[in-house]
Amino acid sequence: MRKPYIAANWKMNKTIEETEEFINSFLPLVNDVSDVDISIAAPFTSLGAASRLLKSSNVILAAQNIFYEEKGAYTGEISPGMLKSAGCSSVIIGHSERRQYFSETDDIVNRKIKIARKSGLDVILCIGESLEEREADKTFEVLDMQLAGSLKDMPLDGMTIAYEPIWAIGTGKTATKEQANEAHTYIREWLMKYKEGADAVRIQYGGSVTPDNIESLMSQPEVDGALVGGASLKPDSFAKLVLSARIK
Ligand code: 13P
Repeated sequence: MRKPYIAANWKMNKTIEETEEFINSFLPLVNDVSDVDISIAAPFTSLGAASRLLKSSNVILAAQNIFYEEKGAYTGEISPGMLKSAGCSSVIIGHSERRQYFSETDDIVNRKIKIARKSGLDVILCIGESLEEREADKTFEVLDMQLAGSLKDMPLDGMTIAYEPIWAIGTGKTATKEQANEAHTYIREWLMKYKEGADAVRIQYGGSVTPDNIESLMSQPEVDGALVGGASLKPDSFAKLVLSARIK
């Protein structure tokens, strides 16, 4: 049994003040939760404030992106050392929005994973197919390519995989629990085939997860948690998600 892991991806939402307000309301709602791992991926500008408030709490601070070099002339980019000194212990890599709007390839994702792990940051690697790919029956092929490219020459320690079908992100159109479990099973089998320690890796589902559908998704044997966008922006809704994922 893998420990459930619920992660918030705030995307480009929340100022420093809004971050502080959220955390001050959220922490008391989950402070006795030790059977679910919880993380919040805040925007870069909120990391310092979030880190001060989350210190000695049961909530992990994560970033939403990283650059694949340690320092240098890369205007606007953020290094692993900067993330660590801002208080992060985890980072989301390869989100479909970064692949889509910032042309991130599996090769770039792989370089980012390598530097993040080398610096001791845990990683949530996002993968998932588009609607056209699903309709053309290419879901497994896409997952295959993304896993092979992103995880090239990388062991699995410190890794969480988030299966996020692009057609389910921000659309209110969640994958059915069967669709999620089928994709997660495929991912698990891929990991088992090519990597050591695959059994311990948590596979989160992401895409229109809400307090109303989390229990059904988490009832599936291969769904170990969720990566949550919209429903993580309100303290009570995100707390409900965390509490619903507790081991019964
Ligand atoms: P929504 O929960 O808003 O669909 O976003 C999912 C997501 O992209 C999390 O990374």
